[in-house]
Amino acid sequence: MSGKLNERKTLIIGGGGGIGGAIAHRFYSEGAHVAIVDADASSAERRGTELLNAPGNGRVVTLGVDIGDPKTAKEVVESISKEFGGLDTTVHSAATREPTATAEDMEIKHWDEALRVNLTSMFLLCKFAIPHLRAAGGGVIINIASQLGSVVTPGRPAYHATKGAVIQFTKAIAIENAQDNIRAVSISPGAIETNRLLARHNTIETIREKLIPGHPIGRLGQPEDIAGAALFVASDDAAFMTGSDLIVDGGYTAV
Ligand SMILES: NC(=O)c1ccc[n+]([C@@H]2O[C@H](COP(=O)([O-])OP(=O)(O)OC[C@H]3O[C@@H](n4cnc5c(N)ncnc54)[C@H](O)[C@@H]3O)[C@@H](O)[C@H]2O)c1
Repeated sequence: MSGKLNERKTLIIGGGGGIGGAIAHRFYSEGAHVAIVDADASSAERRGTELLNAPGNGRVVTLGVDIGDPKTAKEVVESISKEFGGLDTTVHSAATREPTATAEDMEIKHWDEALRVNLTSMFLLCKFAIPHLRAAGGGVIINIASQLGSVVTPGRPAYHATKGAVIQFTKAIAIENAQDNIRAVSISPGAIETNRLLARHNTIETIREKLIPGHPIGRLGQPEDIAGAALFVASDDAAFMTGSDLIVDGGYTAV
């Protein structure tokens, strides 16, 4: 079996979640070796089992760890690279679910946690992975940002600040490593139907009623919509693409 990502050695942070999990599925089905890393060990395991029961012939590794501290992030990158015999693709798809609050009312611990998970863990992943991508002769870094990295809505200051920073950080590493055949792209989804949205809005009906009007395409996104975009970015079809933010938001930011 051959696919667009044959033998690609991929590490996905947040791979147990909705979007990260869909990316794991899609990449595996295209021939990649996939390491699913998630702070929630049971969801990482569950995804790993799903992959092994799906079409694909790559290897699957799961790890239940929080990569938000330097020592763990380094250990995760080193161990996956050792397991796969190298590393050429990374995906960061983890974020906190901080409570809705204005900057004035936000608890400092929630601000700190958003920075740690949404941004610092991404920096750590890239910092420790880039030497492996370079050693592999090049690679692809995909960082999941958000349409809310470019536009704002009330009560989400930490999310906006971190997602805007993800877009800029990704551009920075793109130009730093372009000469080494390493491409870095952020993907900015609109509202995607995952547990993350359910945690904030209770029911799928409430979510749709509230959020569909902001999406001119007339529906919310599915995790597979983002997985399709990630496959394009990771594949050679996007060989000339780096330093960009790919907006996949059903028209949310076009209005
Ligand atoms: N769902 C949406 O509407 C939407 C829209 C725009 C952007 N995004 C972004 O997409 C990404 C994925 O979101 P999702 O909807 O799949 O959410 P999700 O909650 O389903 O998945 C996120 C995963 O990250 C894991 N995680 C959290 N902190 C971690 C840490 N420190 N170390 C390792 N794993 C950790 C969680 O356990 C979870 O499995 C996030 O960056 C989110 O901000 C989502």
